[in-house]
Amino acid sequence: MKITIDTDKKIIHIEDNDKTTPLDLYSREAFEAISEQWIKIGWNEKYAYTFTWLGIPIIQLPEDMLRVQEVIYRIRPDVIIETGIAHGGSLIYYASLCKAMDNGRVIGVDIDIRQHNRRLIEDHKLSPFITLIEGDSIDPLIISSIKSRVNPEETTLVILDSCHSKNHVFEELRAYHDLVTPGSYIIATDGIMKELDDTPRGDMEWTWNNPIEAAIQFVKLHPDFVIEQPPWIFNKSELKKNITYWPGAWLRKK
Ligand SMILES: C[S@@+](CC[C@H](N)C(=O)[O-])C[C@H]1O[C@@H](n2cnc3c(N)ncnc32)[C@H](O)[C@@H]1O
Repeated sequence: MKITIDTDKKIIHIEDNDKTTPLDLYSREAFEAISEQWIKIGWNEKYAYTFTWLGIPIIQLPEDMLRVQEVIYRIRPDVIIETGIAHGGSLIYYASLCKAMDNGRVIGVDIDIRQHNRRLIEDHKLSPFITLIEGDSIDPLIISSIKSRVNPEETTLVILDSCHSKNHVFEELRAYHDLVTPGSYIIATDGIMKELDDTPRGDMEWTWNNPIEAAIQFVKLHPDFVIEQPPWIFNKSELKKNITYWPGAWLRKK
């Protein structure tokens, strides 16, 4: 595909399979087409590796953080479970929302919690809101340890941000979906991988080996879940689609 941006004439041309589509530069369609490229280039440049939350590195795209905040504020989960901790910024972020809402706590699991990261999380002011569990997120012992910390009547949100292979995410969906309460979500993050196969840091396998494929396979077997971008709470624009690393990620429990 070839995109030409003519800022003088205020038009973009998208050439795909011998077909050229002209678009007004100042249009929703142009914004979406340019954003698709921006997302890929930014991922390759490690844009998401440039942020902290309350002092701790968080590896997320800011729009995804705001969108998940909107969902958390709307459904007010009692428990937020996240697989994949890394430095711990996302746990601190969710904990800060729990504190601000005066509701909820966070459970994080990671196969490798580095000593340095553990210390920063445990010494953080928000650590009373956070439980850290070390182990493989699809290990039956780890799964039952997490489940034993959640009461059946609690509203629960699950965020899958560990290993993003199709198989691992599918196993995580199988393992954790029964914790998700009606109206809440299990989020299979980083489906953007599917679009990144041709980037310098990407992998050809990602066209099929990605969280979106896991989610699609999962909902076929679990019709009580639907893949659906959460509604925007506020929108005074013509825009409709998240600019996101999490396409096809949101599985809502009906
Ligand atoms: C993308 S990072 C998580 C980023 C973090 N959620 C944030 O927003 O800053 C992925 C993490 O998943 C962990 N991980 C990889 N495979 C895992 C597995 N099988 N079980 C649990 N954690 C795993 C890695 O150790 C790594 O810390």
